[in-house]
Amino acid sequence: MAVLNFKLEYLVLLITILSIFFRSTSTSNSISTDNFLQCLSSHLPHHSDQNDPVSSEIILTKNSSSYSSLLQSSIRNLRFLNTSSVPKPEIILTPFEKSHVQAAVVCSKQNELQIRVRSGGHDYEGLSYVSDSLPFIVIDLVNFQSIRVDIEEEFAWVEAGASLGELYYKIAEKSRVHGFPAGSCPTVGVGGHFSGGGFGTIFRKYGLAADNILDAEMVNVHGEILNRKSMGEDLFWAIRGGGGSSFGVILSWKVKLVRVPPNVTISHMGKTLEEGATSLFNKWQTIGSQIHEDLFLHVTTEVSESINGTDKTVKVSFTSFFLGSAENLVSLMEENFPELGLQLGNCTEMSWIQSVLYFAGYSADDPLEVLVNRTINAGFFKAKSDYVTKPISLTGLEGLWQRLVQGEGSFLIWSPYGGRMSEISESEIAFPHRRGNLYGIQYLVYWNSENETDNHIGWMRELYSYMEPHVSKSPRAAYLNYRDLDIGMNERFVNTSYSKASTWGLKYFKHNFKRLVRVKTKVDPCNFFRNEQSIPVLQSR
Ligand SMILES: Cc1cc2nc3c(=O)[nH]c(=O)nc-3n(C[C@H](O)[C@H](O)[C@H](O)COP(=O)(O)OP(=O)(O)OC[C@H]3O[C@@H](n4cnc5c(N)ncnc54)[C@H](O)[C@@H]3O)c2cc1C
Ligand SMILES: *[C@@H]1O[C@H](CO)[C@@H](O)[C@H](O)[C@H]1NC(C)=O
Ligand SMILES: *[C@@H]1O[C@H](CO)[C@@H](O)[C@H](O)[C@H]1NC(C)=O
Ligand SMILES: *[C@@H]1O[C@H](CO)[C@@H](O)[C@H](O)[C@H]1NC(C)=O
Ligand SMILES: *[C@@H]1O[C@H](CO)[C@@H](O)[C@H](O)[C@H]1NC(C)=O
Ligand SMILES: *[C@@H]1O[C@H](CO)[C@@H](O)[C@H](O)[C@H]1NC(C)=O
Ligand SMILES: *[C@@H]1O[C@H](CO)[C@@H](O)[C@H](O)[C@H]1NC(C)=O
Ligand SMILES: *[C@@H]1O[C@H](CO)[C@@H](O)[C@H](O)[C@H]1NC(C)=O
Ligand SMILES: *[C@@H]1O[C@H](CO)[C@@H](O)[C@H](O)[C@H]1NC(C)=O
Repeated sequence: MAVLNFKLEYLVLLITILSIFFRSTSTSNSISTDNFLQCLSSHLPHHSDQNDPVSSEIILTKNSSSYSSLLQSSIRNLRFLNTSSVPKPEIILTPFEKSHVQAAVVCSKQNELQIRVRSGGHDYEGLSYVSDSLPFIVIDLVNFQSIRVDIEEEFAWVEAGASLGELYYKIAEKSRVHGFPAGSCPTVGVGGHFSGGGFGTIFRKYGLAADNILDAEMVNVHGEILNRKSMGEDLFWAIRGGGGSSFGVILSWKVKLVRVPPNVTISHMGKTLEEGATSLFNKWQTIGSQIHEDLFLHVTTEVSESINGTDKTVKVSFTSFFLGSAENLVSLMEENFPELGLQLGNCTEMSWIQSVLYFAGYSADDPLEVLVNRTINAGFFKAKSDYVTKPISLTGLEGLWQRLVQGEGSFLIWSPYGGRMSEISESEIAFPHRRGNLYGIQYLVYWNSENETDNHIGWMRELYSYMEPHVSKSPRAAYLNYRDLDIGMNERFVNTSYSKASTWGLKYFKHNFKRLVRVKTKVDPCNFFRNEQSIPVLQSR
């Protein structure tokens, strides 16, 4: 049976390759895009002429002079930049109005074009602008960036194409004692980030970005605009952690702002293996998730020269973010983690928005405007993620350090869970990783040139396989926002798209996967909104 399935897979693969070949050598692409453009014109009553300046601003074909620069504008991972080997959209739409998005959905469906929706473009596998199933178009929400902050009522409406940096900046303009619990990288888009979860320095206190969403506006498969009330609680549940791309085009979020003190405290302590990093790390494994929720004590590991300069070692950095004064941080650390030796002199007090600058890699004294700079210094990278429920043994750690030292360009981020994250139930929203997790790991490896890609990806896969006995099991959980297309790709004996999808589905969503499939089947039964790792539709038998 297994052998038969295997052959069947080859046959399917062959047919797929042939059909891609056939399609790319035929004119069917240009016919469907022509029809699509006609359809679009008829849905944009005021701009029916394709030579209309508004239309030409919204619609970029491969012939448009700004097609390439726009496509590349938010590509974060150079693995998906190569112009000759990466599939390109037939058309990029940059809608200005909600009605443009509605028309794009209706006309794509009519002409069997796939849609990719892009907000910040930070998808680790490029799924917001690359598609293996052709032909496809990209809806780029670059013109959906407006943010309206209401400090009195402590909420904000944020359009999906806005970045985290823009949101933080707009909040800080109005208040220095309000913030929002989302990620650290200012160029990340809220469209992808919030719909996949979204965590950062204050998530042990306030939960995820997705936990703080009050309402949303989205375009569904019929081209209708829905809000929380009209979409219903099932769909509203699904787009908070289940990813937006399986369900429609999210236009905007209404989010609840949270309160932060006038000053917070940060500190940074780095130790190499020779300086006792392993035992400090070992202690951190148990206290990171137990310590007071005002403290986010996160760890990064990277390879560095050892002190004598001849060998490589691992440097483990402990960075604290504390919602309070330096004095209180020091006493909290003396109580819980005296081994680290944190002193007042290692701490800096600053406003919350300055800490945002700090965690974004800027200096706390830089002007806030750097947060709205969208220019990206992109590199090649591959990432994977894990969750850890039992401390990794010392021998497990030694083996990990060895592997890191043998590799090149790795960067691991260890984020303690616990606090508010343990209080919210696994099924509250679609994001499932809650109580029982000590911390999450993000494995990253960076490189500079395309010819190194295979080496580094191979190294990362070996690292991931080494870590298997040390991390969560059944399922080995993973974070959707650290998307990894390796998951589910090598499931050799999988015989239906559903069981294949359940491989990543269970890792990303655990028990919530089933409900996500039910919601998907209800709202998009023909599976129009799909990608390499979207929620599958349950076939009726
Ligand atoms: C440098 C860097 C730092 C990061 N830091 C953090 C961090 O601190 N914390 C954290 O939790 N994550 C972090 N991430 C991961 C980040 O949360 C995800 O990559 C997120 O999905 C990016 O959202 P985006 O809108 O920028 O990406 P996109 O590539 O635009 O979108 C990602 C996915 O969401 C879909 N999508 C986007 N917009 C919409 C929409 N409007 N409607 C429907 N579907 C949509 C896309 O089709 C795609 O499938 C980081 C990523 C990078 C590259
Ligand atoms: C692009 O330009 C070519 C040659 O000028 C033309 O034949 C083709 O129709 C154009 N395609 C689109 C999508 O406008
Ligand atoms: C792009 O990809 C092709 C095929 O994989 C490869 O031969 C070429 O060197 C790549 N180009 C660049 C600029 O990296
Ligand atoms: C350099 O330091 C490393 C790690 O401390 C040690 O293993 C190695 O023997 C040292 N090499 C020399 C030449 O001193
Ligand atoms: C921490 O502070 C102490 C005392 O001010 C100082 O000696 C030490 O170098 C600092 N450590 C770091 C990592 O900054
Ligand atoms: C915040 O910290 C700065 C720098 O330490 C200090 O000058 C200021 O008085 C503090 N403000 C408050 C309200 O504690
Ligand atoms: C934006 O950031 C880029 C990359 O870091 C930098 O080169 C550029 O000067 C910045 N632009 C502004 C206006 O600050
Ligand atoms: C990869 O290409 C770069 C230049 O782009 C070159 O310097 C390097 O030596 C190459 N590496 C390998 C392993 O071929
Ligand atoms: C599909 O594969 C699973 C094992 O992965 C097997 O249990 C099941 O019977 C198979 N279904 C069909 C229809 O072949």
